[in-house]
Amino acid sequence: MVAMTDFSHFPERRKRLQTLMRQGIAIIPTAPEVARNADTHYDYRHDSHFYYLTGFTEPEAVLALIAGDKMQTILFCREKNAEREVWDGFRYGPDGASEKFGFDAAYPIAQLDEKLVELMGNQPVLYYPVGADTGWDARIIKLREAVKAKARSGIRAPSEIRDVREPVNEMRLIKDVHEQDIMHRAAKISCGAHRRAMRFTRPGQHEYEVEAELLHEFCRHGARHPAYTSIVAGGANACTLHYVGNNAPLNDGDLLLIDAGCELDGYASDITRTFPVNGRFSAAQKDVYEIVLAAQAAAISAAIPGKLWNAPHEAALRVLAQGFIDLKLCQGSVESVLETESYKQFYMHRTGHWLGMDVHDVGEYKIGEQWRPLQPGMMLTVEPGCYIRPGDSVPRALWNIGIRIEDDVLITAKGNEVITQDAPKTVSQIEEVMRHD
Ligand code: GLY
Ligand code: MN
Ligand code: MN
Repeated sequence: MVAMTDFSHFPERRKRLQTLMRQGIAIIPTAPEVARNADTHYDYRHDSHFYYLTGFTEPEAVLALIAGDKMQTILFCREKNAEREVWDGFRYGPDGASEKFGFDAAYPIAQLDEKLVELMGNQPVLYYPVGADTGWDARIIKLREAVKAKARSGIRAPSEIRDVREPVNEMRLIKDVHEQDIMHRAAKISCGAHRRAMRFTRPGQHEYEVEAELLHEFCRHGARHPAYTSIVAGGANACTLHYVGNNAPLNDGDLLLIDAGCELDGYASDITRTFPVNGRFSAAQKDVYEIVLAAQAAAISAAIPGKLWNAPHEAALRVLAQGFIDLKLCQGSVESVLETESYKQFYMHRTGHWLGMDVHDVGEYKIGEQWRPLQPGMMLTVEPGCYIRPGDSVPRALWNIGIRIEDDVLITAKGNEVITQDAPKTVSQIEEVMRHD
């Protein structure tokens, strides 16, 4: 089921940004189309900041916002073009876009430079994504020079340039109800994909066959694209953190780590599950799995309002450190394992990241020198793991076991909500789903 997109909240977000700006002009372009090879392009993906403020998904578009006494929202976009629309499909055109998405004015993209020079006149501050694209940096400087050239007519150019992403990142960090709704739906589809992969997997298949099941499940629910390249990593491949080859055979007795999530209506989900290719955990696999699962539970318990960003990571590390000692991977006390960071041989990444339109979403993790307190509306992943490469000091039975368990967690007023809990996670849940009668 694909829900109808509701556009009413986009003007509200623009107004909030204009209020935060207080005065000046903001210029926010969408992403360019990118060629893949002759006459073909990568699937188009709009810019996340631009989309957050417009809901507009066509390429070749720019948003301009004026803050201050005379607030104005202006879209520049492609014109209607009967011939191009025969080849490439519908375009809103400035009038259609204005009506549908609620801008005060809209102009053809061909008029962008000329209109921006007009709009920038006498604005004290110019906001745009500074440094995000060298082409835009040069263009903005040139436009400002064109405004400066009008000094004798009494028109002043903006004297200050600020990065528009700073206020927008702060807005994006707290997900509003529309975003939460989409992310719940994205999570549900991705959970279904992980269940499907578990039911499908058998020894002798290849990683790409399982990847195809994930993509099938995303797409048939209206999520045409994964939020990132799916990691489908059998056996030792799971110890390569960003493994995306996805072309090896799946062996009886190995684990399969899948890190995959769909993008729905511009929002990401990000789930990792690790399960046995043959449907039954071995004793050694289960020992490691239970430690990672306990670390994840501890981290999720620490992901509540008022706790600092780093609390889930610290909670996971304690459980992992004790587990690594029990498994004879690390020596000494929990304190010494944490102090010397000897755990990093087996757990070398952090326990999560913000999640939103971008899979590694925007938002500062620190305020000043301090980790940021968690607040209702924040969405983060909780994803501890354990990756055991062969080594002289590593117990032989644990070689090539790679496990990660990742869920998407919404911070709520009362604590949190794991929005990806429908993906089987305990040993018994996984073995039950994989039972082939
Ligand atoms: N799938 C990317 C990540 O887990 O961070
Ligand atoms: Mn993640
Ligand atoms: Mn992930």
